[in-house]
Amino acid sequence: MMDNILHECNTEALSDTLFALFSELIYKTAGIKLNARKKVLLLSRLQKRLNALGLRRFEDYYKRVKSDDEERIIMLNCIATNTTTFFREKHHFDFLRNNIMPELLVKKAQNKTIRIWSAGCSTGEEPYSIVITLCEALTNSARCHEPWNGWDIKVLATDISTKVLENAELGIYELDQVPGHMAAGDMARYFLKGNGENAGKVKVRDYLGEIIRFRRLNLKEEVYPLSNVFDVIFCRNVMIYFDDEMKEHVLSKFHHHLVPGGYLFLGHSETIFGKNKFNPAFITVYRKQ
Ligand SMILES: C[S@@+](CC[C@H](N)C(=O)[O-])C[C@H]1O[C@@H](n2cnc3c(N)ncnc32)[C@H](O)[C@@H]1O
Repeated sequence: MMDNILHECNTEALSDTLFALFSELIYKTAGIKLNARKKVLLLSRLQKRLNALGLRRFEDYYKRVKSDDEERIIMLNCIATNTTTFFREKHHFDFLRNNIMPELLVKKAQNKTIRIWSAGCSTGEEPYSIVITLCEALTNSARCHEPWNGWDIKVLATDISTKVLENAELGIYELDQVPGHMAAGDMARYFLKGNGENAGKVKVRDYLGEIIRFRRLNLKEEVYPLSNVFDVIFCRNVMIYFDDEMKEHVLSKFHHHLVPGGYLFLGHSETIFGKNKFNPAFITVYRKQ
């Protein structure tokens, strides 16, 4: 099996030296660390782009991405791993709904604003799961049918990949991607079912999408172009692609952009290590001191 993959990808087309140059460029640009074991993966993901451009040699593609900012963005679209699902790690959404929201509803009762950031939002399932959770928490707390119950809620959803952001903004998914635990009534409240040529698809209802702002943001940047501080930041299954230096950079940025006592959600295999100013609050959820 592996032999077939290696054969199809023709690893000789990408010498170790060239792989090292691509890895260095990708690390410098996006903070994504590719070790030697990722060579086949990189090769197969970039090969499609070479084909699309009519280029035969990786060397020529390297020269192109080095000198072309737009092409670097496209290269990152090709290499990023975007796996995600609605309500991934459901216990996080239960914690948001049952613990954080009741706290925010009291703490923010005066100005009624809540700000949440989904960093590395991929195709949108994570930020839409967040807004569905907020909607449930708000309507249930007031037994109210107006989704935001007078609250000013905004969710910023960012990713380095422009390709996933385009899909996220559309909010269209296959019916079988919709969370299995959702009752039929809830399903209709949050999703529109497609007909005709859109049969088998669902679209997230507009009132949910309207409070999300999708934007490209590269976590490697020295300064994040954000004027807001957030009550909650989700950055799950993103830092697994970073080395310790990049993780520290991102964590210090999140610390800066969180309110005191704000929450940071990480993925199931990501923990906060070393010196930092976060306290554990729940399973891979941390709180700014
Ligand atoms: C595996 S997905 C995680 C999606 C979602 N957070 C979840 O847990 O289901 C990782 C996402 O991180 C994004 N990403 C990787 N490096 C990034 C960077 N330097 N800045 C911003 N986003 C990045 C990828 O494009 C990808 O969409």
